[in-house]
Amino acid sequence: MIESLKKLIREKIESEFNIEGLVVEEPKKGLADISVPLFQYAKLWKMSPVDVYNKFSTALTMIEEIEKLEFSNGFLNIYLKRKKIAEGILNSVLVNQENYGQSEVGQGKTVVMDYSSPNIAKSFSVGHLRSTMIGNALKNIYKKSGYNVVAVNHLGDWGTQFGKMIVAYQLWGNEELIRSNPIIELQKLYKRINDEEKINEELTQMARDAFRKLEQGDPEYIKLWQWFRDESLREFMEMYELLDVQFDSFHGEAFYNDKMDRVVDMLEEKGLLIVDEGATIVDLSASDLPPALIKKSDGATLYITRDVAAILYRYETYHADKLLYIVGNEQQLHFKQLKAVTDLMGYNFDLEHVNFGLVLVDGKKMSTRSGKFTRLDDVIKQAILDAKEAITSKNPDLKDQDMVARKVGVGAIIFNDLKNERHLDVDFNLANMLKFEGMTGPYLQYSSVRIESILKENELNLKDLDASYYEEDHYFEVIKQLAQFPHIILKAQENNAPSIIARYITALAQGFNSFYGKQRINVEDSKHKNANLLFISSIQIVINEGLRILGISPLKEM
Ligand code: ARG
Repeated sequence: MIESLKKLIREKIESEFNIEGLVVEEPKKGLADISVPLFQYAKLWKMSPVDVYNKFSTALTMIEEIEKLEFSNGFLNIYLKRKKIAEGILNSVLVNQENYGQSEVGQGKTVVMDYSSPNIAKSFSVGHLRSTMIGNALKNIYKKSGYNVVAVNHLGDWGTQFGKMIVAYQLWGNEELIRSNPIIELQKLYKRINDEEKINEELTQMARDAFRKLEQGDPEYIKLWQWFRDESLREFMEMYELLDVQFDSFHGEAFYNDKMDRVVDMLEEKGLLIVDEGATIVDLSASDLPPALIKKSDGATLYITRDVAAILYRYETYHADKLLYIVGNEQQLHFKQLKAVTDLMGYNFDLEHVNFGLVLVDGKKMSTRSGKFTRLDDVIKQAILDAKEAITSKNPDLKDQDMVARKVGVGAIIFNDLKNERHLDVDFNLANMLKFEGMTGPYLQYSSVRIESILKENELNLKDLDASYYEEDHYFEVIKQLAQFPHIILKAQENNAPSIIARYITALAQGFNSFYGKQRINVEDSKHKNANLLFISSIQIVINEGLRILGISPLKEM
């Protein structure tokens, strides 16, 4: 609401006086609600700032929400009809509840999001964890903006490494071991064949042959591959369950095996294929990129070939208007090549690589292999244990301790990941992210719980709302924040930036906590008390909805 008023003010003045780029700002606490600096125009038009003030004022007479205008220190200061505005905003939050901030900007448009996408028979890396959490938040953000979202887990379940896996299993595999600990055991086999290959070249050829047979659909090999896939996926699903993340499709790379010939034919028809030392490539020098390798000399297809097939499939099956690939910084080149190849094919796909930085522990790249954990879900389970210790020492009588610990522990990890701009590296420190103060998940959950504890003993009555109390600064500051929420969602969507929401709800929780330090809620006057309760209830609705969008569960008690 404030945002749209600012826009209206800007437009009125700009069109009236034929100018562009007018600054319309919200000054810091205690001053006017909105102000416009005048110096620039005084200089431009060689007149006094007061004269500019008088000029601009004439353009604003028709805006209903404005209470009064004032000239002060070279600024046009605008005071709003706070009561009316506050009433509008609170009503909007309380009537819409969790739907406050929902918009229709994406109506009729479909976005396909490719995220998480771990590799079969390999451990789920911290990078995949980041992709999962960022992707999940973006899914919620786009849905909140009215888009239709298709969440795809593009599993890494195809490629020459499966030829190696099959050979290694046939030589040294043990079914029982793999069943009991699939990914670790499969990884051991993979490591072993890579090591032995160095001294035994025969293995390399065997692996190539095995992958060729797999690509050709050899039933026995397909069966083995399917088994590796099922076992790995079972382990990944435990992680998704822990994080409460769902996908619409698990079509991974293998799914495109029978759709690859078409891609190669299309490239051929367009005259884009070149054979270079036996390999088939697309030259991308016009885009200043290294060539895209479409087929190896033995005919095996590659990662990018499967991605071209996947993009066509997504456009044709889901009628995607936009594609987001939530993948780490290190694959930047791959996605540039993918875009360049499809551009050459004559498409103009709206494809965006939503990249992100590394996860660091004590400044070093985090890896499950090098640390004390071998599986990422052990890290998450540790967070849950630590969270349980923290909450039980704070509140020993708490019911459902395990459920709460799980939501606090998982929420802490998610929030820690999403609070900073995604392209930056993330510091992973369980003790820090589980603190109840500062920019943490538990701080936000706790702020919401504090509000809950007041609300549950009282009744709210929206019909009797007297918004005149909200004219005071300590209320109105927070009202302005609440008014921002719909705008924040759109900004997060436009920039693919969950951090914008993370920062916003942190500021809102801080706003609440400082308000709560100044204002007693349970006052004598029942009208005032009702206004207080409605006010904090609105804050809670927005904090909870922000948390939900990020993939963090709000709590009633902790
Ligand atoms: N499996 C890949 C990896 O772990 C990520 C896949 C990303 N998605 C894609 N369509 N290329 O590196």
